[in-house]
Amino acid sequence: MIDNSDIDKVFKDQKAIDRIRFLIHRRLGIHIKEGKESLLRQRLWKLILNNEYQDLNHLCDEIERAQDSNILLRLATLISTNHTYFFRESTHFDFLQTTIVPNLIPENGKIRFWSAAASSGEEAYSLCMILAEIMGIDRFSREVALLGTDISQKVLDAAEKGIYTVENFEKIPSMYRMNYTEAAGHEGFFQIKQVLRNACLFRRLNLNMCKYPFKQKFHVIFCRNLFIYFDHDTQEAICNEFARVSMPDAWLFISQTETLRNLNVPWKYVNPGIYRKTLNPHYGNQ
Ligand SMILES: C[S@@+](CC[C@H](N)C(=O)[O-])C[C@H]1O[C@@H](n2cnc3c(N)ncnc32)[C@H](O)[C@@H]1O
Repeated sequence: MIDNSDIDKVFKDQKAIDRIRFLIHRRLGIHIKEGKESLLRQRLWKLILNNEYQDLNHLCDEIERAQDSNILLRLATLISTNHTYFFRESTHFDFLQTTIVPNLIPENGKIRFWSAAASSGEEAYSLCMILAEIMGIDRFSREVALLGTDISQKVLDAAEKGIYTVENFEKIPSMYRMNYTEAAGHEGFFQIKQVLRNACLFRRLNLNMCKYPFKQKFHVIFCRNLFIYFDHDTQEAICNEFARVSMPDAWLFISQTETLRNLNVPWKYVNPGIYRKTLNPHYGNQ
């Protein structure tokens, strides 16, 4: 039986570490740079302990064999970080407010937003607050449909509840805080109002592993602070899927610290982290 005192022994095996780095890359599209062993150590130790794998090679065998995606999903969840906060990279929300929302035309009565790496929902609810404010709550309730997806069910459960600590809420501009949040019943916690939560649906989806199963097309997709984990081919595949499931002139937001430069994808650069779908077959970004 393995316990905490074995951690150094398990992570001393450089060949096994290289093997797991290779497998994570091949099966998840996530590139972990050489020298990031401490990150692996930190994240994988829990998995090894909980599942009583004898060592890293034992875990690698399991990953190689995995047909169902359970172990792969758990691995991806462990390796990526869920860090997020309300109104993160707020210039994106300013752009949305001034340039995008006034020109959006509903399709089949709905304007569809997708927060594709939603984490615990702060991005989705920031979007909702902006939209409710611009459109008015009645039109918002009628027209806005927001899907939040993530690979981790744990964060999605939190997103669905929409309950956050006071510290989380401090990032929300006070006007929005007043209009769209309320005390959650226990001290130090607040909840997003039901009227915003009604517009949101949170579901688990691994962006890296399937054709996305959507019938209705999205007007705006947010996928911020996830691309950094993926290699070039995975980023391209995801962007192409985003294009396939979105409206002809859809918008895509990635982080301002990420770029689609050098990817052969039908998204044209507009502003830092902001792209618009292009039908021009000779696409490519500067
Ligand atoms: C750093 S958070 C970003 C949250 C939010 N978009 C933001 O910018 O604040 C990245 C999220 O991506 C999720 N994630 C990681 N790999 C994923 C995958 N393959 N498919 C879907 N979500 C994934 C993680 O669980 C995590 O919640």
